[in-house]
Amino acid sequence: MTAHPMTAGESRFEAQEHRDLALGLSHIDDTIGRASELGSEGLWARLHDTLRWLDRDVRSHMAWEDRWLYPQLDEIAGTPWATRSPRLEHRQIETMIASLEADSARWLGHATPHTCAEVVQHLGAIRAIMTAHLEREERLLLPLLDDSTEDPG
Ligand SMILES: [Fe+2]
Ligand SMILES: [Fe+2]
Repeated sequence: MTAHPMTAGESRFEAQEHRDLALGLSHIDDTIGRASELGSEGLWARLHDTLRWLDRDVRSHMAWEDRWLYPQLDEIAGTPWATRSPRLEHRQIETMIASLEADSARWLGHATPHTCAEVVQHLGAIRAIMTAHLEREERLLLPLLDDSTEDPG
């Protein structure tokens, strides 16, 4: 098998980033679980924390994967199909981030029980797709990097 000297470091980097992303997801979990006790002001503050995290950490993680990690995985697998479905999931996550940004803009100064429920629903949706996406990357894509760095003996 072709040697890919950069992949071991990238595999470790990806795993570390996922540990950090898992912390952000558990914060979303906490927000959803405590939404009614947080009230609209608390929920508003949490939504802004989450949007900052999505913009800074999640978007840059996906951009790095789209530009650097996925092309290598496609090369190792020998087909662009290796990353077709995770690339599509990135676009779905982008769409969900945009929905939360729209919630935040629309909501400014006039939160109602209905808008709060909508935000909680959008938070639940992005949590679900991101959890599934990270698990698929870890189970199906990262093993490709690890295989390619194994000593061919
Ligand atoms: Fe990803
Ligand atoms: Fe990832």
